Amino acid sequence: MKKFLACTIIAFLLVNCKKAVKEDTQQRGVITKSAMVVSAREEASKIGTDILKKGGNAFDAMVATELALAVSFPFAGNIGGGGFMVYRKANGELGSIDYREKAPLSASKDMFLDESGNVIPNKSTLGAMAIGVPGTVAGVFAVHEKLGSLPIETILEPVIALAYKGVVVTKKQEERIQYYQSYFNKVNKDSIVFNKPWKENDTIKYPALARTLERLLTHGKDGFYKGEVARVLAKFIQENGGIITEEDFAKYEVKWRNPIVFEYDDLKIISMAPPSSGGVCLAQIMKMIEPFDLHEFGHNTLKTIQVITEAERRAYADRSYYLGDPDFIKIPLDTLLSHTYVTKRMRDFEENKATRSSDVSHGNIQIIESDETTHYSIIDQFGNAISATTTLNGAYGSKLYCSELGFFLNNEMDDFSSKPGVPNMFGVTGGEANSIAPEKRMLSSMTPTIVEKNGKLLMSVGTPGGSTIITSVLQTILNVHEFNMSMQEAVNAPRFHHQWLPDEIRMEPNLFNATTIKNLQNLGYSINEKDSPVIGKVDGILVLKDKSLEGGADYRGDDTAVGF
Ligand code: DON
Repeated sequence: MKKFLACTIIAFLLVNCKKAVKEDTQQRGVITKSAMVVSAREEASKIGTDILKKGGNAFDAMVATELALAVSFPFAGNIGGGGFMVYRKANGELGSIDYREKAPLSASKDMFLDESGNVIPNKSTLGAMAIGVPGTVAGVFAVHEKLGSLPIETILEPVIALAYKGVVVTKKQEERIQYYQSYFNKVNKDSIVFNKPWKENDTIKYPALARTLERLLTHGKDGFYKGEVARVLAKFIQENGGIITEEDFAKYEVKWRNPIVFEYDDLKIISMAPPSSGGVCLAQIMKMIEPFDLHEFGHNTLKTIQVITEAERRAYADRSYYLGDPDFIKIPLDTLLSHTYVTKRMRDFEENKATRSSDVSHGNIQIIESDETTHYSIIDQFGNAISATTTLNGAYGSKLYCSELGFFLNNEMDDFSSKPGVPNMFGVTGGEANSIAPEKRMLSSMTPTIVEKNGKLLMSVGTPGGSTIITSVLQTILNVHEFNMSMQEAVNAPRFHHQWLPDEIRMEPNLFNATTIKNLQNLGYSINEKDSPVIGKVDGILVLKDKSLEGGADYRGDDTAVGF
């Protein structure tokens, strides 16, 4: 017994020493004591933090950050798009809001097909037909009304001031603007502010956007969805060949939804419900991998990559068949998330060879276009946390820019399944569940997520990346939980992705061990290191043991953590 006790003590010390050494050598991100905002641009993180400093809560800061991203990060930040936000209040109350775009009233199932029933190239991605009815302005006003604490003027004023003053161009932004010139020219009849050869350190001012935002000061969300702005915007879209009307704007409404909540080891994960596939897919994958000892297997080793890949393959196959807008279709959520079902899904997993996606189901394969969205995480000084992901879908959305109002419009219609089995720009296929219908919301992969441990807030995390969003969020959580990484290390670590179809593991190039890749290939896995130079741009906040906050801001973008 004594011997047993001694052994136990030694084992305990060894484990904890190992952990302590690990923690000492961890490379940490920005650490603050009370509150933090992490987003794609320093300007937006600062404006959000300033709102917190003024005594505002995470929800006030969410409104400010979301709109500041619309000004400072036009690549993806928006008032012409939509998003999702998951929250956990300091008292443990959970919730989420869906401000996803909707298909216009005159949308139809076959609107992107030609007479022979084939998908018309680019129609759902470029120009006015690609636009879904935007939800962002309705989203921030709903959040403010239900959960905010500061007057809306206090929140909007710094954002409007930023739009008038202008935003400094970063190197990455310079490259992006250059890259998309031909698209801007193709889609827009007149030249737009981004047609100039903007260089790093130039300042771009956005007076038209500032004036549009000023309308919200006086008219609230109706300043966007009714009256002058709705009239100008509907006319502009129609003149450019689109079908959105003033009625579409007037009818837009957000949805408060119950988040998807599930357990993984001693963690409670809170994520977005349909019409985002994020929460369901994340839950399925995590439930499928839970029985395996990933900690023992090691980070990005053959076994870990294999187990995660096989779970992802099965979850994405389900995503494609079962998921869509819950207001239009019946989703068998209870079954999809049940222990019995996910266990059954993994039953045919074999350690010594890759499962073939064609044996799980079938579909076509297409090359993936580059893409953008943006995520931000906020924890306030009161202990409230939010996790929000917002998007125009592709980079600069439909590329159609309304100069009079000062913003880009989304190309979210491409997230519908234009034709069953034909992949969209992220290479994901869909079926009837995600077919187009008037006023329906298109299926998303956005996965704003909050994690609790032992009943306490642990993390707020999320990312852009189209279909790779879910798997990037997954890996970030696992990096912290299974592999003892700091928040910043978890964000920095190389990422991989499998989405059922195409049947390949995409990896960030030159970051994975060559022998591991060889061994995966020997098991029958196809590895693609070409098409995804970057997988996700994760931003997150981790609550440390002493209750201070660590930001993980992704080096893959201009992302920045700011706080106090
Ligand atoms: O909702 C979705 O899943 C997509 N519209 C997200 C697009 C995206 O993440 C592009 N960014 N990298």
